Order: sequence, then C-alpha cells, then structure tokens
Amino acid sequence: MFLSEKLIDFSDKNMLQHFEFERLLLDRTIPSGRKTLQAAELPEGATSATPAQNDWKDRLSVNSLDAFANAKLAQLEGASLRRHFAETRRELWPDEGPIIFRDGRRLLSFSCNDYLNLSQHPLVKAAAVAAIEAYGAGSGASRLVTGNHPLFAELEQRLARFKGSEAAAIFGSGYLANLGIIPALVGEGDLILVDALAHACILSGSRLAPAECRIFHHNDLDDVRRILGAERARFRHALLVTDGVFSMDGDLAPVEALAALCAEYDVWLMTDDAHGLGVLAGGRGSSFIDGHKSDVPLQMGTLSKAVGGYGGYLCASEAVIELLKTRARTLLFATGLPPANVAAAIAALDIIENDVELTMRPLAKARAFTRHLGLPEAQSPIVPLVLGAAEAALAASKMLEEEGFLVVAIRPPTVPEGTARLRFAFSAAHRDADVARLATLVVERIPFRIEPAPCLPFS
Ligand SMILES: Cc1ncc(COP(=O)(O)O)c(C=O)c1O
Repeated sequence: MFLSEKLIDFSDKNMLQHFEFERLLLDRTIPSGRKTLQAAELPEGATSATPAQNDWKDRLSVNSLDAFANAKLAQLEGASLRRHFAETRRELWPDEGPIIFRDGRRLLSFSCNDYLNLSQHPLVKAAAVAAIEAYGAGSGASRLVTGNHPLFAELEQRLARFKGSEAAAIFGSGYLANLGIIPALVGEGDLILVDALAHACILSGSRLAPAECRIFHHNDLDDVRRILGAERARFRHALLVTDGVFSMDGDLAPVEALAALCAEYDVWLMTDDAHGLGVLAGGRGSSFIDGHKSDVPLQMGTLSKAVGGYGGYLCASEAVIELLKTRARTLLFATGLPPANVAAAIAALDIIENDVELTMRPLAKARAFTRHLGLPEAQSPIVPLVLGAAEAALAASKMLEEEGFLVVAIRPPTVPEGTARLRFAFSAAHRDADVARLATLVVERIPFRIEPAPCLPFS
C-alpha cells in the first residue's frame, strides 16, 4: 500500500484526513492514458476534478511524497529520534583546545574525530592550498578517466609503507571504500561475517554483495568459530569484516585472534581502522597492537578522523589493489578525491609518522577520564557513557553544553535501541584540567551505571 496505516497513526488529525483522502484516490484504478477522474470515480465526499486539477497525477505524487516525509518526521520527533544539523564553526585555540561555535555558544568540543587536531594544522592547511593552486579545486573526473592526479601515487605509496602492505588504493571516502571493496571481493556462493556492532557502511557494503551474510556477536571469537564450523564448507570464499576500533563503543576488535581464526578457516580478514590510524600503536593502527603486525590482508580506513581531512583507503597486496582498481564500482564510477584532500593527507601522515608522542596523547587523555569515572580503562580515544533512553542522553548532553562542553548524544539507529549514549572523543589538544573538570561534572550530575553495552545486531 502507498501510505501505511502505521504512518497515518502518527500524524495529527488534519494530516489523517488528508492521508485518507489521498489513499482513497490512490486505491482507485485509473484507466491508463487518463489524467482526470470522472465524478463516479471520485471518493465519497470529493467534488469532481476541476480543470486546475487536471494534473492531479503529478500533484498527487508530489503531495504523497511530502505527506510521507512529514508523517515520518512526526514519528521520529515523537520518539526523540529526529536529527538536526547545527551550523558549527570549529577552531583550534592554542591554549584551550578544540573550540566550537554553534547556536551563539562557544564550547569546548569532545565530539570531533579530529583526534590529532590536524585539520587545523598550519602545514596541513598549507599543503591543501598549494595543491589547489597547482592542480585546481577538483579532480574533474573519476580516476579511471582523467581524475588520477599525480598526488594519488604518493599518498598510496606512503600509506602502504606505513601500514606494512604492498599497495594501497584511495577512495572518495571511508563509506565509499566499504561500499566498493566488499562487493568487489565476494559474491554469489560466498559468505560474509560481520561483527554486530560494525559501522553502518560495512553493513551497507555487505548488503550490496550478493553473498550470504552472518552477523556474529560483538567481539565473540566463539561465535565466529561456531558459524565457521557449521557453515564455512558450504561456501567458496569467506570474508570477515570488523571495525578495528568500534566507532561508538571505543573498544578494539581482537585482531590478532581473529587473524588466527581466519587463517584456520581460510577466511579473508578485513578491518575498518577509521578510528585506529594515527592514534593506536604509534599511529599505525589496530593491526599493530603489541608491537607487531597482525596478519590482516585487508586494512581499510579513512582520512577523515586522525588524519584530519577526507577520503578512504585500502591497504592490501598488489594483486588485491589491482583487482579493486578494475572492479570496485565506487572507485571507478565516482569522481577522484580532490587534490587538496590528498595533499592534506600526505602532510598529515608526515606529522603522524614523525611525532609518536602526539599520536599517544588522545588515548592518554581518554584513560585519565575513564580513571576519574571508574569506568573500564579506555582502549581508544573514544569513551561511551551508555545512558539507555534517547531522552536521557539528550538531557545529559544539554547539561554539559550549559557548562561549556560539547558532547553530542548518540541515539538509535546509530547505536542499538536502548543504548543511547554520550560519546566522548578525546584529542591531543585537550588540556588535562578540562578533562578533569568534565569528568567531575559527569560524576556529579549524570546518573549512570557501569555496564557494557549490549551486543545486539542493528542496521
Ligand atoms: C568505523 C567507520 N568506518 C567508516 C566510516 C566512514 O568514513 P568516512 O567518514 O570517511 O566516509 C566511519 C565514519 O564515521 C567510521 O566510523
């Protein structure tokens, strides 16, 4: 049916009448080729179509679309799940850290993924400006056509070297990378295993592949072994995809143990290290914990978090990268990343590779915060405080905002139902005194219980 009863239930009385009228119209069979209704075809109570309504089919489709959107918005509003984009100006204040200006307020931000504050670094900005001067503001076409400007090769070589792989490919964004990589590697007759708390774009990429997908319990090696033991033999190839650092929970995947399990069952392991690059293991990410490289043949990540800019990447063998450059649709059929973004990423990588102390700071701040709160020790610069209901998370965020801190509330569907939370993201530039003041406020003003987030699958 065109408009579901469920949606109508959420609308106000006027809307309900409006929907009902449109539904009656839509449910009628209109003889093909005709654009007007005759009197006998009109729903009860309606007057006959006037000349001005001769375009009713077009008008109706526009109105029903808006009606759908309005009803959906009303439903989301009622559940405190409607989103708004707040105009935000970000600056890095040398003596204070990441400052945000929004809605007439000046706030210290704990909600940016710019963990090393490199988006504001003078060398990174200068590299972007110079690239625009040299190559222009955009790439002009996909990399396959004429968009493969000379900066790509340098960034790909640099990333591959840093991540200990043979080669790399740069995508337009991390999201596009996952949408392109997964369906290029697995298809019909193949199996994909995905962690229950994996990022939305891993699930989206998996849905695009005509392979069978199994969601395993979050970070649960026994569940992975159970699925593989029962099902691996039925499939030609198998791919296991997980966040290296979970974006909303801040915990790490057991990469080393997953690599061993994948080797045992001939499964290709792919980690999404969006939140690991630049801030874990001297900046090299979640495949390098404990000082050595785990056997992860597909290391995906983004340039939009600690690297401070925009773009996605995959580090892998020469053969895999060549295959993706021939088969990944989001690489072939989307415009190449603009020169400024690629140049900024090269400059940021320079800083990351040469300043290990900088890369360690965000995690140190997060750990100081979790110590203060008595939470389990932070594993990454991301610390969640799960509060349950969306309203509770919104109220806590509002309280902190009134005290000068920006800590955005994260609600379903970004996280599973019932696990709305504050997500604290720590950066190298946060002052210890501010971290301590924030922690004190949380302890004194926000009722929370220390318990792990439930490991429910969500989409
Ligand atoms: C784990 C993870 N993967 C992928 C992405 C998408 O990356 P991008 O923002 O570069 O598209 C994000 C960003 O939010 C993320 O947190």
